[in-house]
Amino acid sequence: MTSGIIASVIDLRSDTLTRPTETMRAAMARAEVGDDVYGEDPTVRLLEERVADLFGHEAALFTPTGSLANVLAVAAVVAPGQEVLCDAQAHIARAELGAHGAVSGVTMRTWLGERGRLDLPVVRRLFAPDLGPFFVPTAAISVENTHNFAGGTVQDLADLRDLREFATGVGAAVHLDGARIWNAHVATGTPLREYGAVADVLAVCLSKGLGAPVGSLMIGSADAVAQARVRRKRLGAGMRQVGILAAAGLHALDHHVERLAEDHAHARLLAEAVGTDPATVETNIVVTERSDAAAYVAAARDAGVLVSAVGPTTVRLVTHLDVSRADAERAARVLAGL
Ligand SMILES: Cc1ncc(COP(=O)(O)O)c(C=O)c1O
Repeated sequence: MTSGIIASVIDLRSDTLTRPTETMRAAMARAEVGDDVYGEDPTVRLLEERVADLFGHEAALFTPTGSLANVLAVAAVVAPGQEVLCDAQAHIARAELGAHGAVSGVTMRTWLGERGRLDLPVVRRLFAPDLGPFFVPTAAISVENTHNFAGGTVQDLADLRDLREFATGVGAAVHLDGARIWNAHVATGTPLREYGAVADVLAVCLSKGLGAPVGSLMIGSADAVAQARVRRKRLGAGMRQVGILAAAGLHALDHHVERLAEDHAHARLLAEAVGTDPATVETNIVVTERSDAAAYVAAARDAGVLVSAVGPTTVRLVTHLDVSRADAERAARVLAGL
């Protein structure tokens, strides 16, 4: 199956473009629902309990977007006027339109990681203890796994554990942006609980590679999630009979996690076609450097393949549920010929 405006177009712009499968739609139609603002939607509760348990945390909260899950997660551990440290290419820094500052009063300082990887020696140097009325204190360190704009990079578990130890030692929290944590889990075989154990708060998405139309979760302690529930409502994202969407997420967890390995194989195939070393492609995202990214994107579009420019010279290709092996092979032929 292909997605996009024209049936024959192969859409590699993002893994958010997937459309719910027939069986997912059937699961949504069958969902038991109630008013979730009253805490009475049984399907949402099931999803929240299941996801909290998958990551070994006390609680989770269903949100309409990964951006909101990140905002709620960071705000749970960083007070207004405090800072979070993160990679310069992190989604929270680049693509949430300043929400952490505009909505939560949080400031950020960033490190320039090699392919988005956590750089603990630099984090140690950036870390600012609370010295009273002189410097912004660091309340949290954020890591993205997998790293989107860096090309689906998987963070090393040993590095994450070292970060956990450092953060605990200095009294800072760890935030994990796990929009694509499922890809990291499938690529490395690392249990989700191991990833959960290194973070105080997490955001995970069901609407990327897992193929749900909507839905993310903020995960943390019962207290952090209770706070997040209040903030979510304050921001206007208290949802009512939203079990129909939670059902899509439960279906995705049952049926779409292990298959991510196919997306990873398709990404390696595409990498070869665009001249990126397939050995550097760890999950479902390929980034390739072009002297003029916009011109490359336009040429690919004219040839029936949609890709995105994520910087003036950086092009991104993302594989997903709606890109079959045949689609990936065809896209590879097209892109190799550009
Ligand atoms: C790493 C990462 N975090 C968070 C998000 C935000 O998700 P949403 O688009 O649902 O707000 C994205 C979206 O692509 C992402 O790539």
